[in-house]
Amino acid sequence: MARIGVIGAGYVGLTTAACFAHLGHRVVCADVDEGKVTALRRAEIGAHEPRLAELVAEGLRTGRLAFTTDNGEALADAEFVYLCLPTPTGENGEADLSAVHAVLGDAEPDGCVLVVKSTVPIGTSDDIARSQRVPVVSNPEFLREGHAVDDFLRPQRIVVGADDESAARSVLALYPEAPALVTDRASAELVKYASNCFLAMKLSYVNSLAELCEQAGADIGDVTEGMRLDERIGAAFLRPGPGWGGSCFPKDTRALLSTSDGAHVDFPLLRATIDTNERQARRVVEKVREAAGPLAGTRIGLLGLTFKAGTDDLRDSPALAVAGLLADEGAVLTGYDPCVTADTGPVHVAETALDAAHDASALVVLTEWPEFAELDWPAVAAGMSRPVIVDTRNLLPADKVTESGIRLVSTGRAAD
Ligand code: UGA
Repeated sequence: MARIGVIGAGYVGLTTAACFAHLGHRVVCADVDEGKVTALRRAEIGAHEPRLAELVAEGLRTGRLAFTTDNGEALADAEFVYLCLPTPTGENGEADLSAVHAVLGDAEPDGCVLVVKSTVPIGTSDDIARSQRVPVVSNPEFLREGHAVDDFLRPQRIVVGADDESAARSVLALYPEAPALVTDRASAELVKYASNCFLAMKLSYVNSLAELCEQAGADIGDVTEGMRLDERIGAAFLRPGPGWGGSCFPKDTRALLSTSDGAHVDFPLLRATIDTNERQARRVVEKVREAAGPLAGTRIGLLGLTFKAGTDDLRDSPALAVAGLLADEGAVLTGYDPCVTADTGPVHVAETALDAAHDASALVVLTEWPEFAELDWPAVAAGMSRPVIVDTRNLLPADKVTESGIRLVSTGRAAD
């Protein structure tokens, strides 16, 4: 078993630290945020991530996992040091690497393998390697929020980029068995961006296709069902929605476009992927306007605020983009989300879905929480001032909803 230091206790760093400890390694995880470290020492993870708090508690109990605010402690004695630092979007769409540089400027790793897990632009790990005495390995993460622990413990793939074969193999050996790719650092970095951008492109494609279905009298559900049967296309990421969001896709698509621009490579497909998504919230607002009439002073209920189901994450949430545009037009918003309790931006947050529907001229389904499909439809209809639902995710059971006297405006289907 290995001694591992993890710098950064965000959802990637914390998942990495807790899962490695669960696998039997000894892990010291450092974060600059004192409050966070104090909470983590009590196994309070401050986020909705299934099984993660349990694994943190297990690591603390077995003594295999410790938290500190001192990066030096995470580095001392470590055989592997994982950099799991934020790389937000910088001024021109490029990734901002100041957190990575600040950490490496303060402490020089020694006698270990330095592993770059943060999503960093192509060439960053090579740059880091030039300034370090230790082997540097790129090992991107592919963790979905809401499934991070499962994705870590049962990985679909492990990608390791290095110019030192034995360092690469030693990093690979830390993980459970999985299909693995050992490559150079730049290719490993690009696998991460290429994957996220490809998925985002698939979603923008499906969202445009849904718009076309509405005009052409086709049904996006059947169209994607037909597409899924082709193994080359793949079954996942074909559900239309209010746009893709979260802490990764928007940042990574912009960063790859910025990298392409910097390399003088024209990548119109990527630009169109982003543009299509930026239009998507406006498209939802148009549908709400059609359903509810003029928006100024009109009460609209929102179902779902997080960027997807299974997380409490509101970062770059398409639901909030839609809410912002509706509020700009003067709509009065009440929302419900199983993972959000505080009022959020222009949205007053209610305690139940029925409360969000109360007195509303339209109810808009924005996040695919499964419980929204099982509401008491007659009660929803009775509470609304005008029973219309705009379902941006095609989540609701159309028959039951319409039988209750509600007009259902689906996505990617010709209007009734
Ligand atoms: C994404 C990738 O899926 C992970 O593999 C990657 O590791 C992670 O980013 C990252 O870079 O760290 P995540 O941001 O958790 O994970 O979100 P996804 O589950 O990929 O969903 C992204 C967006 O697409 C959400 O807004 C979701 O609602 C939307 N989506 C997804 C759809 O609208 N339709 C679909 O069929 C699937």
